Amino acid sequence: MSLSLLERRIEQKIALERNHNLARALPKISERQGVYYKLGDQRVLGFCSNDYLGLAETLRIPNPAECGSTASRLICGNLPAHRALEQRLAHLVGYPDAVLFPSGFQLNTSVPACVVGDGDRVFSDRLNHASIIDGLRLSRSEKTILPHRAAPPEPSASTLSWWFSESAFSMDGDYAPAEKMYRHLNCGGLVYLDEAHSFGLHKNLTWSADHNLRPTLLVGTFGKALGCAGAFVASTNMICEWIRTHSRGIVFSTGTSPLLLAAIDQALSIVTSDEGDELRAHLANNLARLCEGLGLPPRSCPIVPLVVGNNRDALAISRELLERGFHVQAIRPPTVPRGASRLRLTVCATHNPDQIDALTSSLHEVFARRNLELRTTVPNDEPLLS
Ligand SMILES: Cc1ncc(COP(=O)(O)O)c(C=O)c1O
Repeated sequence: MSLSLLERRIEQKIALERNHNLARALPKISERQGVYYKLGDQRVLGFCSNDYLGLAETLRIPNPAECGSTASRLICGNLPAHRALEQRLAHLVGYPDAVLFPSGFQLNTSVPACVVGDGDRVFSDRLNHASIIDGLRLSRSEKTILPHRAAPPEPSASTLSWWFSESAFSMDGDYAPAEKMYRHLNCGGLVYLDEAHSFGLHKNLTWSADHNLRPTLLVGTFGKALGCAGAFVASTNMICEWIRTHSRGIVFSTGTSPLLLAAIDQALSIVTSDEGDELRAHLANNLARLCEGLGLPPRSCPIVPLVVGNNRDALAISRELLERGFHVQAIRPPTVPRGASRLRLTVCATHNPDQIDALTSSLHEVFARRNLELRTTVPNDEPLLS
């Protein structure tokens, strides 16, 4: 009886979603070969993965004997490989220490509660990722939502003032305002910076290092440019040890699998080598070609949103692209604000020029047929609904 009531309630939600072109389903991906894979029965060329450097398929686990860490690190799951990787990461990003997490979502939902205290002032960019939003909710802090890329007010000497932001915004492919962030830090403010979509894509590994910024807590993930999974936060020794021993995502979760640690180690060796430089150069060339082909200004983030506005158009364009053999996901609310549905294109180092040209000419045709402009932002005259 209760089960059928529950299912009826879900059924109603699904019907509502369908009416608003918001229905969701997991795509059936198989037989991945580089940027090609099967989507259901159709072989497609993908332009929506976050595997920006094309590492996901190349990483190999050298010794797959050890799989599980057996328990939370605080119980008996703390292995030498955890500390070794944390120390390597800290060294690479130039911080005293770092803490590993099995995923970026787990990190962002547990670290804020661990460091934000009663009475702190908390400012969060309006377009921050869901995991940061949830993490701040769990921290029970009173937060102020900042307009996108706006800075918090000048910090006061008596209260901690936090700025939570992404470096490269995951759905918009634009960057945090580096100068404002520098000023905030210089005036005694604290910065929690999530570099999920920039870690590994910069000469100095991070966007912040390239901009001479030193966030108080620096977050990076390994599921995007590093082609595997997991995440880290870097900070001072004391803050890291506090997080390692108190954040719920570590205390109440099994230690990151040694299999994953080995893959991360390998990915780090690649992104810090000459091969990493070459992959980044390929990516930059591909991105320049894509932007030029679409008639868009040059940009440095491999996320290129084509904002169409309504859900129906976004879905229809995604479907039409699929008919032409391209997989580009339509991104709709709540992932993006209402009225800002889009095609989120991503380009990888492993695409070739012909593939990019084929996509751009299809995009021109599909958008022109619908009288839609190729644009990366919401038009100024149409305020975002959220
Ligand atoms: C900005 C940002 N932070 C965190 C995450 C979550 O990272 P993970 O995929 O490792 O859970 C994502 C994932 O999309 C993201 O875009």
